[in-house]
Amino acid sequence: MKGLFTLLVLVISGIAFAASSDDLINRIAPVGSVCLIGDSCAGDATVAVAGSGGGQQDPQQIYNTYCIACHGTGVNNSPIMGDAVAWQPRIDKGLEILYQNSIDGFNNNLMPAKGLCMACSDEDLQATVDFILSAVQ
Ligand code: HEC
Repeated sequence: MKGLFTLLVLVISGIAFAASSDDLINRIAPVGSVCLIGDSCAGDATVAVAGSGGGQQDPQQIYNTYCIACHGTGVNNSPIMGDAVAWQPRIDKGLEILYQNSIDGFNNNLMPAKGLCMACSDEDLQATVDFILSAVQ
C-alpha cells in the first residue's frame, strides 16, 4: 500500500514538473532564437549580430540610430545611403579616408565626429561605413 502511494506521488509530481518545464521552455524560447540582419526582429535593440567588420555593435543598428538622420535624408548635402552618384567621388578618395573622416568628423563637423555615436568604437564606425557603402557597391 505504501509502495502504491509513493508511486502515485511520483506520477503526480512528474506531471506537475512536466507542465512547469514546458512553461519554462515556452518562456525562454524567444531569447534563444537567432535574429539575422534582414529579419523583422533585426530592429530589436537586443540584437547584435553583425554582418561584417570587427565592431562590437550591429552596423545596421548604428546606422538606423545615428547616421540615418542625415544619410537617410541628405541634410547639409550628406550623401544619401544608396545614392551611387553621391558616394562615388567619396569612394574615389579611398576607404581609409572615409573611415578617418567618419571617426574624426569632416568639413567643419558638417559630418560630425563619430556620426554622433559617442559609444561607437573606431571598429564600429568602420563597419558602419562598410554597411553604408554596401548599398552602392
Ligand atoms: C548631423 C548629420 C550627420 C550624421 C548624424 C552623420 N553624418 Fe556622415 N556626413 C554628413 C554630411 C553633411 C556629410 C558630407 C560632408 C561634406 O562632404 O561636406 C557626411 C559625410 C560622411 C561620409 C563621407 C566622408 C568623406 O570623406 O567624404 C561618411 C563615410 C559618413 N558621413 C559616415 C557617417 C556615419 C557612419 C554616420 C553614423 C555613425 C554618419 N555619417 C552620421 C552628415 C552626417
